[in-house]
Amino acid sequence: MAQERRGEWGSKIGFILAAAGSAVGLGNVWKFPYITGENGGGLFVIIYLICIVLVGLPIMIGEVMLGRMTQRSPVGAFRKLDGEKSLWQGVGWLGVLSGFVILSYYSVVAGWALEYVVIAAKGEMSSGNPALMSERFGEVSGDGPGATLWHVAFMALTVAIVIGGVQKGVEIAARVLMPLLLLMFLALLVYATTLEGFGEGFNFVFGFHTDKLGAGSILEALGHSFFTLSVGMGAMLTYGSYLRKDDDIIGASVAITIIDTLVAIMACLVLFPITFTYGMEPEAGPSLVFTNIPMAFAQIPGSTIWALIFFLLLVFAALTSAISLLEVCSAYFVDELGWSRTLAVPVCGLTITLLGVPSALTFSTATFGSGMEAAIGKSWFDLFDYVSSNWMLPLCGLGISVFAAWKLGDEARRVQFEAGSTLGKLQGLYVLWLQVLRYVVPAAIVVVMLHAIGLF
Ligand code: PHE
Ligand code: NA
Repeated sequence: MAQERRGEWGSKIGFILAAAGSAVGLGNVWKFPYITGENGGGLFVIIYLICIVLVGLPIMIGEVMLGRMTQRSPVGAFRKLDGEKSLWQGVGWLGVLSGFVILSYYSVVAGWALEYVVIAAKGEMSSGNPALMSERFGEVSGDGPGATLWHVAFMALTVAIVIGGVQKGVEIAARVLMPLLLLMFLALLVYATTLEGFGEGFNFVFGFHTDKLGAGSILEALGHSFFTLSVGMGAMLTYGSYLRKDDDIIGASVAITIIDTLVAIMACLVLFPITFTYGMEPEAGPSLVFTNIPMAFAQIPGSTIWALIFFLLLVFAALTSAISLLEVCSAYFVDELGWSRTLAVPVCGLTITLLGVPSALTFSTATFGSGMEAAIGKSWFDLFDYVSSNWMLPLCGLGISVFAAWKLGDEARRVQFEAGSTLGKLQGLYVLWLQVLRYVVPAAIVVVMLHAIGLF
């Protein structure tokens, strides 16, 4: 198939910005705090951190490497390295499929955030009455048609950006907005320390307690380490395919991992003190960030402005992640099936939008929600989240790690590892990474999965 010269990042920082944009998103601010709450904090956070360092980061390096070596998106990457009929292409397909599943419900949550921007703009968050804010989320998520419309709006925005090829513009904006998000959390953190519930919140996140840790908790921590770093579906592989030969993969991966983890931990250290100060339950579920942040803002001067900035930044963080998800889905049709971009992006976008409608309706009491939950114990929304994050990403990540650690030639792999990287040339680091990717990563994934299905 005829291919134009493949794009490259304009600068070294281009890749870091795009990849960090993909990583930092709702996973950090919305999902991590809420699953931490549900799993009792403490030990769950420690397991998550171990998964990030021992599994997520090593796979990220392998994934970006495969992208740069092949200059392809996931499916093509495996074909290029292992031949036309390679079964490894299945790993790529699994990644593309996860992209569809994840974005479908991710966009629903982003839609809530979008609606919150409007709610904040209307001044509703300066009521001075925190209790109102917790009811407000029920109204937003419980309004099926409304939630669907906001989901459609967010998808339309994502599609428009990816078709328009203005990702570059978004990445440049990210250069300002991402540090702003960090600053926002820093300010909130300072505020949180003044709350009566700070000590309890801090202890919830970092204290050692195991009471709420269930059979599925370890799988959830593992799955979330993939989700939050955007690994195990080909997003990092695709972004890596635009890297130049002398770009530093190791330094970039480490930087992205640190930023992502910082945001996630800060989000917890802000949200849980608020939870305990107002006597709420840590296991509030998906509503956590949407009630706690407005509750905190309700009582400080300038609450409308604060809330407006916060939710705008959250939408923006979600957008840069959504772009990478849609990019992987459409790249498959463009690179593998020869579709034009202007066809592939809307077709994928529309499919994902439709796939997300049941998730948007999940929280409206009148419809969907209860029926499916009664039948299989999980709503559509929860099922999509559970299957993609806890099973699809780790399985695809397993494939990526086995391929990168066992199938690639050692010479070529080492060159990739060391290129342009001071860190990568550090004595022994390559061998350490390789051994971890060869043994620790696959063993951890398999053991955790077997544990989750109750084998031991
Ligand atoms: N990492 C993103 C987040 O934390 C979500 C995501 C997952 C993006 C997989 C791309 C691929 O919000
Ligand atoms: Na993340």
